[in-house]
Amino acid sequence: MMEIKFIERKELKEKPDMSTVTFGSTFTDYMLTASYNEENGWHDWTIEPYGPIQLAPTAVVLHYAQTVFEGLKAYNVNGEAVLFRPNENFARLNRSLERMSMAKIDEDDALFALKELLKVEKDWIPTGEGQSLYIRPFVFGDDHTLGVHPSTTYKFMILLSPVGGLFSAGTMGTTKIYVEDKFVRAVRGGVGEAKTGGNYAASMKAQEVAQSLGYDQVLWLDGVEQKYLEEVGAMNIFYVQNGELFTPQLNGSILPGVTRKSIIEFAKDAGYTVNEARIPLEDLDAGLKDGSITEVFGAGTAAVVAPVGELNIHGNKYVVGDGNVGPVAKEIYTTLTGIQNGKVEDKFNWIVK
Ligand code: COI
Repeated sequence: MMEIKFIERKELKEKPDMSTVTFGSTFTDYMLTASYNEENGWHDWTIEPYGPIQLAPTAVVLHYAQTVFEGLKAYNVNGEAVLFRPNENFARLNRSLERMSMAKIDEDDALFALKELLKVEKDWIPTGEGQSLYIRPFVFGDDHTLGVHPSTTYKFMILLSPVGGLFSAGTMGTTKIYVEDKFVRAVRGGVGEAKTGGNYAASMKAQEVAQSLGYDQVLWLDGVEQKYLEEVGAMNIFYVQNGELFTPQLNGSILPGVTRKSIIEFAKDAGYTVNEARIPLEDLDAGLKDGSITEVFGAGTAAVVAPVGELNIHGNKYVVGDGNVGPVAKEIYTTLTGIQNGKVEDKFNWIVK
């Protein structure tokens, strides 16, 4: 494996009070950086103090948004750091890099570098209920040019951030969702299935409007007909109808979530029928109206499962189930976080030490 240089910091930071930490606001003592150019490939792998970086004002990422990221978590299981399906994240990182015409990274090198960083930062993995160390690998083009073409130089970085849940420290509440009828997040043939910053930038206006109307997030419809379900907020979407699970099939504009995939694999194994399909909004509307849909939830790494308590479909307001967290969402949340925390047997071999 490659050499990783270590630059030690003089003083370590105080560990935060996890009861007050909000998602993505606190970072550990160190970060990983690596550089790419055409002559040397990926090189200068370094673990160094977390802090600001220098960029040319012409850096490609700042103008033409050549950037992709990942999100995964480390857990403390009996004093040992474990990861949940990291190979899935680094495989997706490369698929995103490919789509954005960026330099790819050897997946074993990336995982090795992450493990080395975690060896240094192990004490930062929080141990409370629902807590973990969120890992943010990302790559961006930093070539000095305003020419519109792929960058010839890149940076790869990994940041670590102790977190509770996405919404609040550990407690699972329900969210209020507004079905977006004006803006779209992604289109077929676009970059919706890549984990690239622009998708998140494009989503913010709709979220802002939804929040001004008293909702937490929007439910995205497809970008062509605005008729079919795609995602909810920055997450994949599932619902439960007559005891079966439904989720939109991957179509190029939906992010292939690792949590989505894990839920499908777990649910099938647990005996659920899982329907991955092109789902018209009318199906969701009808199922909420006649009561056959009893749960709707988002699925992502940050929140794991985010149950929807209320939905506004083009002005029709529905309370989902009784408005509280439903049994299927609870079962999935308990099992996935249980596997991650070492409390449930890892029968799928998802855990990497
Ligand atoms: C996740 O749910 O893990 C996401 O990818 C959202 C993230 C941008 C915070």
